[in-house]
Amino acid sequence: MHPDLIKLEKTFKPSILTKLDDPLLDKYQIELWMKRDDLLHPIISGNKWRKLKYSLDHALFLGSDTLISMGGAYSNHLHALAYTGKILGLKTKGFIRGEQPKTLTPTLIDMQNWGMELSFVSRADYRLLRQYKNCNDLPDLKPRQYWLPEGGAQVLALRGVAELVNEIDRSYDILCVPCGTGATLAGIINAIPETVSIWGFAALKNASFLKADVAALLPKTCTNWQINLDYHFGGFAKISPELINFINYFEKKTDIPLEPVYTGKMLFALYDLITKNTFKPSQRIIAVHTGGLQGKRGFTR
Ligand SMILES: Cc1ncc(COP(=O)(O)O)c(C=O)c1O
Repeated sequence: MHPDLIKLEKTFKPSILTKLDDPLLDKYQIELWMKRDDLLHPIISGNKWRKLKYSLDHALFLGSDTLISMGGAYSNHLHALAYTGKILGLKTKGFIRGEQPKTLTPTLIDMQNWGMELSFVSRADYRLLRQYKNCNDLPDLKPRQYWLPEGGAQVLALRGVAELVNEIDRSYDILCVPCGTGATLAGIINAIPETVSIWGFAALKNASFLKADVAALLPKTCTNWQINLDYHFGGFAKISPELINFINYFEKKTDIPLEPVYTGKMLFALYDLITKNTFKPSQRIIAVHTGGLQGKRGFTR
């Protein structure tokens, strides 16, 4: 790996595996654990580092001087990319979905402060950008510019996500992860023995397309995974009082901070499924905390 990335990774904190202590879980005889990837780094947290690591290595290997990608006004991916670019001394550019807001979001302000060039694109143009999946796919790329698809969802992301799986040092029955593009889920499926069931929880509505997207990232056919589409709460980044109440309850019980876009929805789903006796008693479930806590700034409670 590039020495600058090794140096950066040395500043990271461990992602611990912790058992949740909640009488409700005891009642249903379920062991629920969390893999705390949110602890890795305050900004390049959760699945961001996992997904970016080997793409950044590739970009540095190619001698790239600019990283370009796309995301929304609260994008965890672009936020992490802008910061990492600054640390690595690389220029960054982000295509932002939708018109420029009158007041920039705190996420966009951070990105700008870290030197990212922001380019606001219409929702239609944004959708077109989604077709560019590989590092040199973006039309009109200049030499030394490196393109990362939405959410950093490319095959190289799988290698970094595998490291998360390899850190888990106990046996388990089910591993759960929230899904946006599905790249983190694909990385997990690719790294885990077929004896474990893997559950993805879609953060967006009408996400049945995810199954094909995840399968397309996988080098071989696997059957031990599924994507639950039922807990989107009306759509991406949509919330409800029920979800917020749950997050407040969970944070108070466990002292683990949640955001309502990804990990908050997944845990709501897990608790709901546990109380509906979906899992067998004594099953051990590990849920991955995929970080993104900066995105909380888009919500007021
Ligand atoms: C905090 C957080 N969790 C989960 C996800 C979903 O990851 P993926 O797009 O790999 O499915 C994202 C988006 O990248 C994210 O920012």
